[in-house]
Amino acid sequence: MCGITGYTGRSVALPFIMQGLEKLEYRGYDSAGVTLVDKSDLFTCKVSGRLDNLKAKLDEEAHQQTCGIGHTRWATHGVPSQLNSHPHTNSSGTISLVHNGIIENYLSLKQELLNKGYVFQSETDTEIIVHLLDDVYYHETGDMLQALLKVVNRLKGSFALCIVSKEFPDQIYVAKKESPMILGKNETGTFCASDAPALLAYGDQILPLKDKEVAILSPDDIRVFNFKGEEMKQEWIAAPYNIQAAQKGGYDSFMLKEIHEQPRAIRETLRGRIINDEIEINELNELDLDWKKTERIYFVACGTAYHAGISAAKELEKLTDVPVYAIPASEFRYGDPYLNGRCLCIFISQSGETADTIAAIKLAKQKQASTVGVVNVLGSSLTRLSDVCLYTCAGPEISVASTKAYTTQIVLLSCLIIKIAEKINGYKPDIQLIIDFKELPELVEKVLKHESQVKELSGLFKDKKDAYFIGRQHDYPVALEGSLKLKEVSYVHADAYYAGELKHGPIALIEDGTIVIALATQEKVAAKTISNIQETLARGSKVILITTESIEVDGFEYVIRLKEISRCLMPVQIIVLLQLLAYYVAVIKGCDIDKPRNLAKSVTVE
Ligand code: AGP
Repeated sequence: MCGITGYTGRSVALPFIMQGLEKLEYRGYDSAGVTLVDKSDLFTCKVSGRLDNLKAKLDEEAHQQTCGIGHTRWATHGVPSQLNSHPHTNSSGTISLVHNGIIENYLSLKQELLNKGYVFQSETDTEIIVHLLDDVYYHETGDMLQALLKVVNRLKGSFALCIVSKEFPDQIYVAKKESPMILGKNETGTFCASDAPALLAYGDQILPLKDKEVAILSPDDIRVFNFKGEEMKQEWIAAPYNIQAAQKGGYDSFMLKEIHEQPRAIRETLRGRIINDEIEINELNELDLDWKKTERIYFVACGTAYHAGISAAKELEKLTDVPVYAIPASEFRYGDPYLNGRCLCIFISQSGETADTIAAIKLAKQKQASTVGVVNVLGSSLTRLSDVCLYTCAGPEISVASTKAYTTQIVLLSCLIIKIAEKINGYKPDIQLIIDFKELPELVEKVLKHESQVKELSGLFKDKKDAYFIGRQHDYPVALEGSLKLKEVSYVHADAYYAGELKHGPIALIEDGTIVIALATQEKVAAKTISNIQETLARGSKVILITTESIEVDGFEYVIRLKEISRCLMPVQIIVLLQLLAYYVAVIKGCDIDKPRNLAKSVTVE
């Protein structure tokens, strides 16, 4: 989710580049850089850390170049550092580029370039692109457009590219596949950026590049081509009316934007994880653990991440005989857990900075346990403390309420536990699970189409202060997460119970009009859950039932049916509905959706 800006024209380039990067800061980043170009020179300045560090290093008055590009990096390959930051330059210093996305086949391309004698400065996937461009431009085509077309047709994965060169000092070449790239123009020149907010002060029309298009920006015109080299018609549209709205992609809040980003986030998380219908978690090979002698496996986290850990533990305990536990980090760190060199501890964290989780991993390491991090923010503390680290490529999660981080945790943890079971006892998943992984992004798109129905159901909460979530087996951790979402954004008191536990006390809370959100998606126990729900109906509850297309139910007023998929992935579908429910109830209650009272995005203190 990097920020990209570029300008070429009759004005000085740097002011646009820097203001644009500032407008894109909300996307989250860990390093920044610019390249400015003119006939005689390609000047690059890049730093790790904030934009202010870049400004401090740049003497803006000294740089009057009228063509240049800028970048803020959200690390996906290679930790945040000056060397790994963009722009990346070819060895002769004549071509410089910035990239947003993930190049899936970068290792094979890197090997090809190493064999040709190319020398790499960074650990990034991006750097292979500038050397590949150098190779094709100088040794094959001698024409940058043809070189770029050859290169983009070899790249697998997602990319938005911005390229400048001393060879054509007043032009910028851009390319787009899956990652956003938007163009602009006015009387001074032409512009590009990874998101509209950077362009809004520079014109009232924008040109979002379509997928698999490249463009050449010159001071007075823009030309667009498809990846076959055919020139394309340009469809300019009115720019969004304000920056705040544009940063939220037109959504009313970051939470709603991030709920809708989940299909893309899941796609990015799975990128490179399923090769020829086999799940790939090669990071596990780096662990010094005798898998056959593993004595205990722990999932340790806080809040939403802990709920994802419970789901993972529930599935893993069905795949191996090794004792499996999901424990809140705040309990683990003080609970004197059984730990030794034959234990595996998996720490889950969106921010990678949660104090309890950091303390818990330090305890595990002291006791010689093997540690795996499942983290969203590269370069965060947890990534450095873990023996190996897997990344949920959800992109920056701005809203305090965790949404896309949770669903990408469930997806990545589902891959992880399958590989753990395979290492312990040779477990092999059935092909249906692999199919379900592949179809999950589109399935989540379908679930999002229930949004208006969920918005209508949120009306039931208008005068309500309480709600109860119930479920059995794999549905229970999702009930926990759904109740947390509702609590933290709408301040409705919500509890989650095992459905079978209702009659042992909690059912005393049910009275006329009490809202019960019931999850019954596990075929084996659905009938039992349905009968528990009917006990609440008999006492006047209003039930919202989430079930699957195949489970027989009748007599319920509000039912949402989901496609039946592998049980370890069902939480992803269910939670999207519960995230939307929490969101719309919070809207009705007039709450501050993205910054709920008393909460912080990352709890870096005990
Ligand atoms: C979830 O919506 C909350 N924001 C909170 O429970 C969060 O999941 C918890 O604080 C853990 O944060 P982490 O994933 O960054 O470690």
